[in-house]
Order: sequence, then structure tokens, then C-alpha cells
Amino acid sequence: MKSTGGSDEAKRNAGESAAAAVEDGMVVGLGTGSTTAHAIRAIGRAVDAGLDVQGVPTSFQSRQLAREEGIPLTDLDSVSTIDLAIDGADQFAGAHLIKGGGAAHAREKVVDNAASRFLVVADPSKAGERLSHPVPVEVLPAARTTVADDVHMLGGNPTLREAAHKDGPVVTDNGNLVLDCAFGEIRSPQELADDLASIPGVVEHGLFVGMADEIHVGTDDGVEIHE
Ligand code: 5RP
Repeated sequence: MKSTGGSDEAKRNAGESAAAAVEDGMVVGLGTGSTTAHAIRAIGRAVDAGLDVQGVPTSFQSRQLAREEGIPLTDLDSVSTIDLAIDGADQFAGAHLIKGGGAAHAREKVVDNAASRFLVVADPSKAGERLSHPVPVEVLPAARTTVADDVHMLGGNPTLREAAHKDGPVVTDNGNLVLDCAFGEIRSPQELADDLASIPGVVEHGLFVGMADEIHVGTDDGVEIHE
């Protein structure tokens, strides 16, 4: 798993706080990343103790961890609703997020958006007044050059994400590539989201505009919940 800012204790406090919102009978979206992993482990312990839930994973990583933790799994085709989704973020500003540090944002957006309630888990290093983190953009491999040209036209600086333990680029769970696109401070997240979504060859971008219902920000001592 990639490592990001924030202490493990802060991530644990955030993840366990969100996991406490899971109730008997719920279908729960299981996000990706080191903070959400704490929530998945906490849900696993609750399942061991008798909680009846079904999880909808957002990535290979979250599926694998949920299976190890004994959480019964399902998929979007098999359920009529997702009651709650829990997922991490690379940056948050109000209810706006940038996600995709784990290259899982395409499935994450589908699951998080389908949920009746979306809880974000984060440590204080992810907070911003305005979004400014590079925006991950998942692209069809054949479109990486044309999408990069269009991102330049929008004022962004795209970088193909390279794998850490493989020669060559990161390949997503969907078989695509990721361009990390730096735009500096993003003054209008909705406008940029619309512009990125309209580029042919873009599968999904990591701007989650106004999507968070609650943000559980863990610290070494506890958790603050932003609603
Ligand atoms: C994966 C994500 C993650 O949720 C995001 O990168 C945060 O991860 P972490 O909790 O490890 O900091 O968007 O695509």
C-alpha cells in the first residue's frame, strides 16, 4: 500500500470513527487506502462479533482486505442501494475532495456516489482551504497523449504516474493509465470537473465535487467530525 502523510494513529481514529456508523443489515461501500483500511478492519471485527453487513469493494486492495477480514461481499449489480460508503481522500476542502492517490478513483466515485451517506476518513494533513493537490485522471492507454494535450489547454500540467515497483506506468484495476494533473489552486472545482469529464479518452477524474456528507478527521488523540 502507498504511504501518505499523517500518523497511523490519526488514520486509525478516523477509520474506526466512521466504522462505528455501520449498522446491522447495511450494505457498505468499502473505499481504498491506508485510512479506509482501518475502517475495514474495524468492520471485520464487528462482523466477527455478529454484525450482519455486506460490503461493496472499490478496488482489488479493498476486496482483498475485506475478504481477509471475513466481511461478506457483494457488487453493485446485486444490491438496490448502498446505505453508507467509507472512503479516504488525498485532499478535502469543505465537501469537495481530490481522490485517486491509489488510482482507484473511478470505481470509488461510482460506489461513493451511489451511497445514501458518504463518510470520508482523513488525517489533518489532507485539509485545505481550497483544493490544490494534483488531480488524478484515469485515461484509456491509447488516449494518454491527446488527453495530456487537452489538460495543457485547460492550464494543467499532466504527469504520467510511474509504478514504484515495476518498470513503466501504473496500470489501474480497469487496465488504464493515470495522469496526475497539477492545476495549482482550483478556484472552481465544478467547472474543472466538467471540463475534465468532457475530454474524450478520460475514464474518470479524481475531483469529487460536493460529495462528502461527513469528514472524520482523526488526530493522535481522537477525531473531529465535519458535517
Ligand atoms: C485511492 C484514494 C485514497 O482514498 C486516497 O489516496 C487516500 O489514501 P490514504 O488513506 O492512504 O491517505 O483515493 O484511490
